[in-house]
Amino acid sequence: MAIHNLDIADFLANTWQTKPRLIRNAFPNFINPMSPEDLAGLACEAEIESRLITEANGKWQTSHGPIAETTFNTLSDSNWTLLVQAVDHWVPEVADLLDNFRFIPSWRIDDVMVSYATRGGSVGPHYDNYDVFLVQGAGQRRWQVGGPCSAANSLQNNPELRLLADFVAEEEWVLEAGDMLYIPPGISHWGTAMDNDCMTYSIGFRAPSHSEMLSDFCDDTLAGLTEELRYADPGLQEQGHSGEIMPAAISNAQRILQNYVNDEQRLTEWFGRYVTQQKYPAETADNTDEKFQQGDLVQLLKDDGVILRDPTVRIAFIDAESPSNSLLFFVNGVCFESVGDSCIALSKLLADNTRICSGQIMPWLGDTESVQLLLRLVNQGVLYFDEEIDY
Ligand code: SIN
Ligand code: CO
Repeated sequence: MAIHNLDIADFLANTWQTKPRLIRNAFPNFINPMSPEDLAGLACEAEIESRLITEANGKWQTSHGPIAETTFNTLSDSNWTLLVQAVDHWVPEVADLLDNFRFIPSWRIDDVMVSYATRGGSVGPHYDNYDVFLVQGAGQRRWQVGGPCSAANSLQNNPELRLLADFVAEEEWVLEAGDMLYIPPGISHWGTAMDNDCMTYSIGFRAPSHSEMLSDFCDDTLAGLTEELRYADPGLQEQGHSGEIMPAAISNAQRILQNYVNDEQRLTEWFGRYVTQQKYPAETADNTDEKFQQGDLVQLLKDDGVILRDPTVRIAFIDAESPSNSLLFFVNGVCFESVGDSCIALSKLLADNTRICSGQIMPWLGDTESVQLLLRLVNQGVLYFDEEIDY
């Protein structure tokens, strides 16, 4: 799928991670995939992350979901916003929006947050630490965009919302259904609903902090270390001050730590596992009651079933250099031990697509390893069949 009025090569070279960009009519004749009522329904569910933000005379209030159904009756008819995280996990039409953004690697995509706001509703002036595409789904929203920000910028006295104390708008646009605004990390922005129909779909990206990356890499590395692996200093030189920590000791410590990061195979595998971890772990339903057998799978494929990927699932592959011509295949933070030569093309197809028609799978039906891989994924609830969709 292509976004209208967006030259992808130009966008990646000149805009991505660099500057805000308004794309008018990015989705011509945009069909709003859900209603405010649908969104409110999701916000009432305990397992779905949601927030309700109200503002009156400069005083902001945030309540976290699940939101009681009765709360909606108590709200005024302006100045509030309901935000629901990872709506793509629950509404297939919202998940489909993501297919427009595959020009960015899938592992970088985090989720689609959806907001509904009444006139004047907003989450206030702020900046995010990740890129976001803001697709206007219905109604109108005024976006004011300011300059780059960092932790050094002063904030209003509201730690939960992290609102900027001194927001200065440099540009201002009113977005209508189908328009889209791209905001890079760290750029201040403030969106205000202009009417009572305002729905915005935020495609957010995964940008783990260095602290999160280091912490996960260390945890992962620690799991494989034994107590016998110790700091050592054979050939130690006598030193003038026994109280001094010598440069050789520091180099020694650096070498010990670097060895772990420099182990390319380890790092590669860890990274694949890390970036395919689910946003909300264990969301994928394991089809424990109904285990498919090889014959069922082949029959379903022959019956023209469509294979869909559970929208909560994250799949990626790495074309590894060693062992030569091998492929690392990652599903929800797990690296599949071995993907044989015959499975390589199938694994790539599964990682690149969230919907595959059985015709695309047919070429692999004669290959035991490929069928085993499919069976495993179907039985884990990663993939499932949908015979109703006309592909
Ligand atoms: C919203 O949809 O109201 C807020 C999105 C954002 O500012 O990142
Ligand atoms: Co934002």
